[in-house]
Amino acid sequence: MTYSSSWRSPSNIALVKYWGKHGLQLPRNPSLSFTLSACHTDMKVMVSPEADSAGLQVFYEGQPMPSFEAKIKTFFSHLADRFPWLAFAAVEIDSVNTFPHAAGIASSASAMSALALCLKDIDDQIKGIADEPNHAWWSEVSDIARLGSGSASRSVFPHAAMWGHTPAVPESSDLFAIPCGQHIAPFYKSFRDSILIVSSKEKSVSSTQGHAFMDELPYAATRYAEAHRNIALLGECMKTEDQVAQFISIVESEALQLHALMMAGAQPFILMEPGTIAIIKVLWQFREKTGLPVCITLDAGPNVHMLYPEKHEGEIRQWIDDSLVQYCASGQVIHDQVGAGPVKNP
Ligand code: DP6
Repeated sequence: MTYSSSWRSPSNIALVKYWGKHGLQLPRNPSLSFTLSACHTDMKVMVSPEADSAGLQVFYEGQPMPSFEAKIKTFFSHLADRFPWLAFAAVEIDSVNTFPHAAGIASSASAMSALALCLKDIDDQIKGIADEPNHAWWSEVSDIARLGSGSASRSVFPHAAMWGHTPAVPESSDLFAIPCGQHIAPFYKSFRDSILIVSSKEKSVSSTQGHAFMDELPYAATRYAEAHRNIALLGECMKTEDQVAQFISIVESEALQLHALMMAGAQPFILMEPGTIAIIKVLWQFREKTGLPVCITLDAGPNVHMLYPEKHEGEIRQWIDDSLVQYCASGQVIHDQVGAGPVKNP
């Protein structure tokens, strides 16, 4: 008997950054992200429990990808209690990303959330459960995704999600993300994210190295306190569209803090490129001149996420084309937007 499941799951972009972890994929601070749409992974998983030969085969864009297997095997080892059939199954994973693999965009959030969805769905099939997914089901998927990649826990919910316990949000948890879409104004759900690809090289610092770096950093405790403070402030200001100046201030401070932290260690990293700084400066001048609500955020890399509401899409896209594409590798810009979360493929 072979079971199969296929899901499309999106990437996400953090507004308050997860940077620092402990134990089995537990965050040092709460984080909050927009769920994206165009940047997603399509994945199909096929499982034959009790196959003659148990094993894992991973394909990406139809090609065998043995280099992905170690990370997935580690992930499976964390799921041994939850999915005992995994130890005796032949598993095949096929996936494609809509965004270029080498664009420096984190693919772990979309890929690991898609994998979590497929595995949970297959587990339901094996157990003969045909119920519609409810709140507990999605929390469990988020918990599973977290074990694959922390940020993946947030990709399973529409519009916006937060992960990590903070006293300001009693239902928040270190184990799984919670949906936040119901608490944010429609203005924020309309947000665009134009991703300016300054460099399409592989990241110079892996997330694993980056999180470990925080353990040695004298500023770490202050940073974690700052994340708690920022998440409470951001949650409040995103309830309406009236406090967009505060939204911009928090989001840009979070992005630059992430990079400042990496520059402040005993063996520092500079993850920005000259083009990253140039774009930020051009944006600050443009915002000063036009008063438009547009801001940047950054991942742990040089590419710039330009965030702005739908109602200013025309003029901001024109300005990106006229003034910013020159800083992008091969003129590459990916236009994404806040999205509705994962969907099950037919
Ligand atoms: C800078 O989720 O990639 O994008 O849990 O080790 O897989 P692992 O880390 P990962 O870290 C993401 C870091 C970040 C900020 C964020 O998405 O919150």
